[in-house]
Amino acid sequence: MKMTRRSFCTGLSAASLMRPALAQGLPLLTAQETMVQLAPDSYPATPVWSYDGTIPGPALRLPQASRLERRLVNALEVPTTIHWHGIRIDNAMDGVAGLTQDAVPPGQSFDYAFDLPDAGTYWYHAHTKSMEQVARGLSGALIVEEVTPPDVDRDEVLMIDDWLIDPETGLFVDSFASPMARSHGGRIGNLVGVNGRYDYRLSARQHERLRLRLINSANAQIFGLRLEGLTGWTVALDGMPLAQPEAVTGTLVLAPAQRIDLIVDVTAEEGAAAGILFAAGDDSWQALAEITVTARAATKSRGAPAPLPPNPRMEINGVDAAPVLDMPLQGGAMRGLKNTLFNGQAMGWQELVQKGQFWALAGQAGLGEAPFTTLSRGETARIRMKNDTMFPHAMHLHGMHFRVRKEDGALGPLRDTVLVMPNETTEITFLADNPGKWLLHCHMLGHAASGMTNWIMVA
Ligand code: C2O
Ligand code: CU
Repeated sequence: MKMTRRSFCTGLSAASLMRPALAQGLPLLTAQETMVQLAPDSYPATPVWSYDGTIPGPALRLPQASRLERRLVNALEVPTTIHWHGIRIDNAMDGVAGLTQDAVPPGQSFDYAFDLPDAGTYWYHAHTKSMEQVARGLSGALIVEEVTPPDVDRDEVLMIDDWLIDPETGLFVDSFASPMARSHGGRIGNLVGVNGRYDYRLSARQHERLRLRLINSANAQIFGLRLEGLTGWTVALDGMPLAQPEAVTGTLVLAPAQRIDLIVDVTAEEGAAAGILFAAGDDSWQALAEITVTARAATKSRGAPAPLPPNPRMEINGVDAAPVLDMPLQGGAMRGLKNTLFNGQAMGWQELVQKGQFWALAGQAGLGEAPFTTLSRGETARIRMKNDTMFPHAMHLHGMHFRVRKEDGALGPLRDTVLVMPNETTEITFLADNPGKWLLHCHMLGHAASGMTNWIMVA
């Protein structure tokens, strides 16, 4: 029998139901060093940190409302943890070293087990010294499948990443601590790739309908993306379905950690150019993922897709009456910081720079003892982020999805990561219904490591 992807996935989840009981141990996910050929073949391979020896780590696919169970085995020489990005998760499983758990020492393990309430495209990544650990390769896709999947011929995950490596040696460049990268736009790679390949390609037939799950797992790069030879609709952002699919016309913007689910029809004829292009630094458009169009499929194009089914319990009530909390985004090159709290002490720019802190959220660099705010469970929150820096920031809230509230009170789609441009003010609103300690930080990971990390308490 020829296995289609769909039956293969169903097979996997059936197998997961027959897993041995918890006492005998969970299925493993091993963080380990591995050699991987990231650059073209004529260049040396790269020593990476991987999950289970692959870049990206294995794509975990589970049905909605099931439970994810994995034992993280730390075979690295440094402590690590896993964060399950975008999942409305039990706080104890959120994987934030120093806030929700202790980092897992080398040679030890940690059991992650939690429910998956929402269908959608998520991802997992290291959350201990993440600027370095994610850049070295510790990330993978987490796909939660709808009970009734949309009518597509194939479902493909495209994890978009960039790597900063020396082509002569294959080694990662600059020790992951460069003050230059941290105080500016972050660590931007010199090689862009998909699913661990710089030359990722798919093949498809004309008129085939594909679901493409785009995930930006890069450290700091904001991707501008265009479709070629494809007619597409955005059906979900950051895992959460849009009420109505939106036709893709111009450039899609995918900030670090964000996801876009597309449904695309292959419109290019056999042999014609098709795929996804990205805006390269020199103003040119380059191939990110090429699609080789083979013969014509039997089916014709099907018109706009139906919306994906909404996830449960997503209402945010009483937004207009909720108080607004201000969290200005501060610091960075060409702005600097003054009188900023670090470890409970007010410091000036020079002192902060010596401590590797270039950024602040609401006057504080890095995690403090006290949360930015304590919300009572069920409360509606509003946080206004004014970007007083010269750089864009991809602000991510753990544990709950939010909506952007426009000045006229209109609410945008559900998201877990929002791009805030310089001089822009973005207000997010969410229902604080998930108890625990939740990070709110910039997902440009060099910024997060250098001050742009805070947390909120839901009690
Ligand atoms: Cu995807 Cu705190 O991160
Ligand atoms: Cu930032």
